Amino acid sequence: MTSQSIESALPFSQSCENNKGPILEKIKKILAKNKHVLEIASGTGQHAAFFSKELPHLAWQPTEIPPQIKSLNLRLTASQSMNLLPAIELDVDQEEWGVLETEAIFTANSLHIISKESVKNFILKAGGMLKKDGQLIVYGPFKYNQRFTSSSNADFDNMLREKSSDSAIRDFEWVCELCASENLFLETDFAMPANNRLLFFKKV
Ligand SMILES: C[S@@+](CC[C@H](N)C(=O)[O-])C[C@H]1O[C@@H](n2cnc3c(N)ncnc32)[C@H](O)[C@@H]1O
Repeated sequence: MTSQSIESALPFSQSCENNKGPILEKIKKILAKNKHVLEIASGTGQHAAFFSKELPHLAWQPTEIPPQIKSLNLRLTASQSMNLLPAIELDVDQEEWGVLETEAIFTANSLHIISKESVKNFILKAGGMLKKDGQLIVYGPFKYNQRFTSSSNADFDNMLREKSSDSAIRDFEWVCELCASENLFLETDFAMPANNRLLFFKKV
């Protein structure tokens, strides 16, 4: 098999390809002194493969819900990145996450997919797991003052709601409130390309 045909057999998301560079620019500063990152909802594994190669000082721990683990592992195995850990099964709603500790938690494009209850569970567990100065990094689209930041995000929200009654673009203020109740406070809200944001919270 050629490397091109292997690549074409791997799970792929064009948006990951587009956003991985801009996300790296932000997280390489935030995670400069870290040793370990737990990624929630790793999807195709493109972020895990790319960030682990670009940030070799980090052990990158990808996770996914059980039905997605097999396809995620295809890309992780192909990436041959030494600091990329094997994916573990993790549903944010499960009682125990099965990860003992981490210094940082990263998730991209997941809060608008999972239900509101799951967003609450995610933040509750993230807050419980992170120690003082631990970082939570959340990438994706958000509403501000109940308004979309662009008409394309409003269209995207309609599309999400049509696909699943659980999914919708979340309110920035609601996410910040949930985080604050877990002692996770917003350090920076970065504007990102394509009307996305990168929210960086720190545990106090
Ligand atoms: C839009 S994809 C984002 C994937 C990847 N992070 C990215 O940026 O391309 C949303 C992901 O959330 C995962 N997911 C759905 N429900 C979940 C849950 N309850 N717990 C953890 N992950 C979940 C899906 O399997 C899917 O891979």
